Amino acid sequence: MNEKQLIAAARAAALKAYAPYSRFSVGCAIESVDGEVVTGANMENACYRLGVCAEISALTAAQAKFGLDKIVRIAVAGGDGLGAELAGDTVCTPCGGCRQSILEAAQLSGRDIEILCASGDGATVERHRIGALIPHGFGPTNLADAG
Ligand code: THU
Repeated sequence: MNEKQLIAAARAAALKAYAPYSRFSVGCAIESVDGEVVTGANMENACYRLGVCAEISALTAAQAKFGLDKIVRIAVAGGDGLGAELAGDTVCTPCGGCRQSILEAAQLSGRDIEILCASGDGATVERHRIGALIPHGFGPTNLADAG
C-alpha cells in the first residue's frame, strides 16, 4: 500500500469512530513489513476517561493479525467525521499515551516506525518517526536490568 492509500485507510476508519462526546473522529491504519493493513478508530465512553484512542484500537488489531514486531508504518487522521468523508485541516498527531504504545512496538523490532500524521481532509501530511515523537522514551529495552 502506498502512502496515499494508507492515509485513505486511516481517514475511512475514522468514519467508524464512536466519538459522541468530543465529536473528534480519529482513524489509524497500520501496515506490516509484509504489506498487511489493519485499522482502528477511537471509541469513547460516558465515563469519559475510559475512551480508547484510534491508535490503541489499531495496535490491538495489529497484534492479533500479524504481531506488534511486524509494524513498519502507521497513518493517523483526525477531524470531523459526521459527514460522508472525514473533514478538517488540522494535522492529527498521536497523543502521548499512544506514542508510548507505538514505542513498545518499535523497540520489539528495533525499527524506528514511520508515522504519517494527516489532517481530516487528508490534504496535509506530516511525516515523523517514533524516535522523534517520543525522544528518550521508556520501553521494553529499559527493563533490561529488572531482577
Ligand atoms: N484521540 C485519538 O484517538 N488518538 C489520538 O492520538 C489523539 C486523541 C481521540 C481521543 C478522543 O476520543 C478524541 O480523540 C478527542 O481527544
